[in-house]
Amino acid sequence: MSRQRIVVLISGSGSNLQALLDASAGKHAAGLPLDADIAAVISNRPNAYGLERARNAGVEAISLDHTQFDDRHSFDAALIRQVSEYSADLVILAGFMRILTPVFLTPLRGKMLNIHPSLLPKYAGLHTHQRAIDAGDVEHGATVHFVTEELDGGPAVVHAAVPVLKNDSAETLAQRVLEKEHLIFPLAAQWFVSDRLVLTNRGAELDGELLPSGGVRFNDEREH
Ligand code: GRF
Repeated sequence: MSRQRIVVLISGSGSNLQALLDASAGKHAAGLPLDADIAAVISNRPNAYGLERARNAGVEAISLDHTQFDDRHSFDAALIRQVSEYSADLVILAGFMRILTPVFLTPLRGKMLNIHPSLLPKYAGLHTHQRAIDAGDVEHGATVHFVTEELDGGPAVVHAAVPVLKNDSAETLAQRVLEKEHLIFPLAAQWFVSDRLVLTNRGAELDGELLPSGGVRFNDEREH
């Protein structure tokens, strides 16, 4: 069977994209596999460093500058056209900082994953690390979830937690969370492309079992 095809959308540095590229090439730092091809990377910001990461990996890098469009709908219409050209089985939002409309969301329902830097349902939206510190949380993390029309609110797949340390700034905490993101994103993508993970009317299901509301808790020690 041929490998499934993934299109990754980014807006910035693309360290999560790098983890996916590495996994797809059999070179992930923690040895995680991703039995799929990254067919293209699309950025809404022309100068996103992630585009260079894509080119370095020999992957098509496309810039679709949202400032060149009149409104969200026309941008989303162009984006869905672009994604369709690559016949993507899975679309991954890896630090893609645009709110998407149904023009893009509806045709890709059940085929799109996002990573959010918090333990959802806590802290949807921006500034998650500072909000966790301000709230005095002892634990923070990241969650991979299916994308639906509810911002950061689609069914969760997997989350990884890190401790919040006494002297943490938003930056030090973000760095600790990012290291976990680079593990759980390839893991969730691999579940999807191996047909273990699906979105049903009940929610996110892994191997036919409905996942808990925050998703599976990632445990570095355990085989997934
Ligand atoms: C990550 O923190 C991710 O959770 C959020 O945006 C950031 C992207 O980082 N959605 P990078 O571009 O993958 O380095």
